[in-house]
Amino acid sequence: MTQNKGIFLALEGIDGSGKTTQLQKLTARLAQLNIKHYSTQEPTGGPVGSLIRQILTGRTLADNRVMASLFVADRLDHLLNNVDGISQKIDAGVCVLTDRYYFSSYAYQSVDMDLNWLINANRPIAEILRPNLTIFLDIPVSTALARIQAGRFHTELYEKEERLLAVRKQYLTAFAQLQAEENIAIIDADADADTVAERIWQATAPLFG
Ligand code: TYD
Repeated sequence: MTQNKGIFLALEGIDGSGKTTQLQKLTARLAQLNIKHYSTQEPTGGPVGSLIRQILTGRTLADNRVMASLFVADRLDHLLNNVDGISQKIDAGVCVLTDRYYFSSYAYQSVDMDLNWLINANRPIAEILRPNLTIFLDIPVSTALARIQAGRFHTELYEKEERLLAVRKQYLTAFAQLQAEENIAIIDADADADTVAERIWQATAPLFG
């Protein structure tokens, strides 16, 4: 008997969109249904992911193209490493949920770079493993900002708002450009967590049917 492959789900959204909470709720739902699953995130905790975090915090500097390539390398390692690589889990029939995947690169890096450059750079990754569904948690930037500010001492308000607006716009541009080859659910996430979880499950459940 051949092993059925696991379902691969990618969660996407701007900072403050509630991805982490929703990933936990989705995981709990799968556990309830006895579906074998594994949650993970990008940037990873692996060697390339650690380098990326150093650049994100300003400890190390890198050109935008270098950074975009590091995200590609981290993603390949996320898929292929022989300790906890996603590909082997999918092949073993495990459902994998990732907090961010290549649409994060399309949205965040394309604020400063050409979107097609990024799509081409990530093509080998899409060829190895395309999500069965990319779930985008869409909230107004003002709501995201309010959530971020509630959790922190201070934020650079203007810079943050400008950035979030640009990233959200780039997400929507990338979804429109790739709609023929990707399965994308845009979820209205401007509601309480349980309502959003229900909306996500409505979009996800058919994959398990
Ligand atoms: P994340 O871990 O989601 O944020 P947080 O540290 O707040 O939990 O992601 C870290 C940052 O990395 C986030 O601002 C988005 C960015 N990022 C990219 O710019 N490109 C990518 O391809 C990925 C995966 C993340």
